[in-house]
Amino acid sequence: MALKGHKVVVIGDGAVGSAYAFAMVQQQLAEELVIIDVFKEKTEGDALDLEDATVFTAPKNIYSGDYSDAHDAELVIITAGAPQKPGETRLQLVDKNLKIMKSIIEPLMASGFNGIIVVAANPVDIMTYAAQNFRAYQRTVFLVQEHLLIPQGYE
Ligand SMILES: NC(=O)c1ccc[n+]([C@@H]2O[C@H](COP(=O)([O-])OP(=O)(O)OC[C@H]3O[C@@H](n4cnc5c(N)ncnc54)[C@H](O)[C@@H]3O)[C@@H](O)[C@H]2O)c1
Repeated sequence: MALKGHKVVVIGDGAVGSAYAFAMVQQQLAEELVIIDVFKEKTEGDALDLEDATVFTAPKNIYSGDYSDAHDAELVIITAGAPQKPGETRLQLVDKNLKIMKSIIEPLMASGFNGIIVVAANPVDIMTYAAQNFRAYQRTVFLVQEHLLIPQGYE
């Protein structure tokens, strides 16, 4: 996926989201990277750290943002989710993560975003289906351990 000159938004700055952002910086993908999380201070710190690292890679505009910043993004990756508690199955996470997904999709689509959504939050197939159906938005794919699965009929 060629993302040079493009804008990417990472929603959820935990273990998965911050690793994704780091990998994007290292691989010199995209020129604008926005990080969004309910834990705002973490996104600010991570954005500054990542920006420091760009001294050794391609110049990049990296910042802690909000949903309005997504209006002209090509790609949004959703990694936000409730942490899985010991003994809790992925299916038991559904209720919690559906609420989180809804709280993300509504302002994301209200921003005017018209790019591709990649969902990593688990259970990833259900969360992707939910992300598509909260706003009838079909440009949604899901990510499973570094592989992009693009089911038939998805753009
Ligand atoms: N698809 C895959 O291959 C794959 C692999 C590993 C983990 N996951 C899933 O990815 C998700 C994230 O895992 P993690 O280890 O990064 O968890 P984590 O707890 O480290 O990070 C989750 C982040 O989401 C944020 N968050 C919670 N609610 C939010 C909201 N409403 N808006 C914005 N941000 C919000 C939290 O503040 C936290 O920073 C989980 O659902 C996990 O199961 C998927």
